Amino acid sequence: MNDKDIINKKINNEVLTYKEIQYMINSYIKGKINDKVMSEFIMLIYKNGLSYEETYFLTDIMVKSGQIVDLSSIKKPIVDKHSTGGVGDKITLIVSPIVAAAGVCVPKMSGRGLGLTGGTVDKLESISGYKLNLTKEEFISALKKVGCAVISQSEKIAVADKKIYALRNEIGAVDSIPLIASSIMSKKIASGSDVIIIDLKVGSGAFMKSTRDATKLAKTMIKIGEYYNKKVICTLSDMNFPLGFNIGNALEVKEVIDFFNGKYDKRLYDLSVYISTLMISNSKKISMQKARALVINLLENNFAKYKFYEWIKYQGGDITKINDKSKKHIVISDKTGYINAIDASLLSQLVFDLGAGRKTKNSKIDYAVGVVLNKSIGDKVKKGEILGTIYYNKKVQDMEKVFKNTFKINPKKIRAKKIIFKTIK
Ligand code: URA
Repeated sequence: MNDKDIINKKINNEVLTYKEIQYMINSYIKGKINDKVMSEFIMLIYKNGLSYEETYFLTDIMVKSGQIVDLSSIKKPIVDKHSTGGVGDKITLIVSPIVAAAGVCVPKMSGRGLGLTGGTVDKLESISGYKLNLTKEEFISALKKVGCAVISQSEKIAVADKKIYALRNEIGAVDSIPLIASSIMSKKIASGSDVIIIDLKVGSGAFMKSTRDATKLAKTMIKIGEYYNKKVICTLSDMNFPLGFNIGNALEVKEVIDFFNGKYDKRLYDLSVYISTLMISNSKKISMQKARALVINLLENNFAKYKFYEWIKYQGGDITKINDKSKKHIVISDKTGYINAIDASLLSQLVFDLGAGRKTKNSKIDYAVGVVLNKSIGDKVKKGEILGTIYYNKKVQDMEKVFKNTFKINPKKIRAKKIIFKTIK
């Protein structure tokens, strides 16, 4: 077997065997194949695609390239949740304690954000003392005691994916359905849960721009789950507008605290309740109706809020000390009308320019900066009213203008779409 023959097979769009894909991936990891050859192979997959079976082969080879987490000592239902990432997406911080309060274990390994806004790990890092690097034993012990734990993705999990994902970023081969599906699923399968709920974002602020492509990605991930006997459920949710009021790492943690104190944006509430309900229903094997009633009860009676504080404290965090030192710039509306759109993509670029996201894996981020929206989709705003606030430590050129331009304010109100488009099982 050699790389030239395998590449030729892919050029001719022939189906590859497990052994052939394994040869390419393992040779690359061992340094026997260089970046140039691997780039050619990846680009061929990017252009010609992979069958479901080949996508499973690639996933499995990446799963086996690293450690697999053993959760068998936990004698509770276990569920994992993954978001494909969006602007203002703090859902993990909300649903993990809700679901843990329902007696379901939530082991979360999250990534740092590489892109316009921070990832879950960056948000948690804005809390003073929060420990993201627990040992395997500490992680299991946190799960047994608290019910949820969120740590940073171990370097030892799906090792091949790390190297290939970095190369895909470099050569512009990220947005390929089989490559995304195998990359996400290799990490999820290696993380050990039997039930995996995926919040697949669709829209201008997400990497899946259309429902059609998102549906294809969902079906591919579900199919991969079937090979492992894992239940994978994908919810397609709207990412044309930012999620919630706050965007920026520390600001999003503050919004989570507000959420548990009953002050929330309706779209954020709807999605959080729905994802928690799916997680509980499918892991406890109870109806969606029963699970939803449980979620509402846990929120209304503050059990979810106490679980949130218990979890953060258990991992060493002091929720009274959030890294939020910044200056404020209030933005006033110069129009009267209804907010019919807020451009998630433009807003995330502004938040990135303020310093909340990272350009490369090792870039430093400013936890404190970001934006807070005073208005949500469908709200009425009057000229002279506050539209929102920019939290900054270094000024960005025309930041007020850019912020205002993200809002589409019209005299007539249009009906906002529901946040949940569909769920695929
Ligand atoms: N997230 C991942 O983990 N992998 C991808 O390929 C894209 C998004």
